[in-house]
Amino acid sequence: MSRKEIFAGNWKMNKTYSGAVELVRELLNNLTDIGNREVVIFPPSPYVKDMAAICENSPIKVGMQNMHYEKAGAFTGEVSPEMVKDTGASYILIGHSERRHIFGETDEDVNRKVKAALEYDLIPMICVGELLDQREKGHTDDVIKKQVEAALEGISGDDVLKVVFAYEPVWAIGTGKVATPDMAGEVHSLIRKLLSGIFNDEISISIPVLYGGSVKPDNIKGLYKIDDIDGVLVGGASLSADSFIDIISVK
Ligand code: PGA
Repeated sequence: MSRKEIFAGNWKMNKTYSGAVELVRELLNNLTDIGNREVVIFPPSPYVKDMAAICENSPIKVGMQNMHYEKAGAFTGEVSPEMVKDTGASYILIGHSERRHIFGETDEDVNRKVKAALEYDLIPMICVGELLDQREKGHTDDVIKKQVEAALEGISGDDVLKVVFAYEPVWAIGTGKVATPDMAGEVHSLIRKLLSGIFNDEISISIPVLYGGSVKPDNIKGLYKIDDIDGVLVGGASLSADSFIDIISVK
């Protein structure tokens, strides 16, 4: 496959500082022979600068879990794109379902954040995914279409090549209910079709699309076999070096 394969760990709001350092050191000491796979970790924001320094010149890239789209100003508690860039992070997670559904992030916010990320040379990892109720009502395709099109509104064909998508069905996140490889595969090919429609086939086949939602060492194999799945975004199972490395090492 010519697309980049990415194995990302979203630590969410977990780990003490010393636990975070221990985890990243374990990953660095035990990650061998990952070939051209890219490994990305998203630690809690206060740790990102130190994690980026520890991971410098290593195969592990570091990202921030969230940021504001404005450059600066009176936005108490927020972090600007420039601040994220200054930490040494190279990725920014955008539109994770917990941001959308717990903190009310809209498609418009997601689009502004994607534009801000590109302006500051950060790689946006854009999350899309349907709620259980939306899937049960047969609305999955419409939801994904709306989220993908809105996220990319006003983005050029050159810029979109720097973007990564993650399909994360909300009902599968943290629930132990993983989408079957076929279910995930269907949405991944829909995302590719949407990218072809907005841009063209060449762009569509160049953009990595990851799967996320209860990915574990015992279900990675089936997901990885699907052609349109270019890697995974892992929550819970990325909090232990052993299970994250098992997932990264899938054959
Ligand atoms: P999970 O989380 O692997 O714990 O389901 C995935 C995510 O939220 O990115």
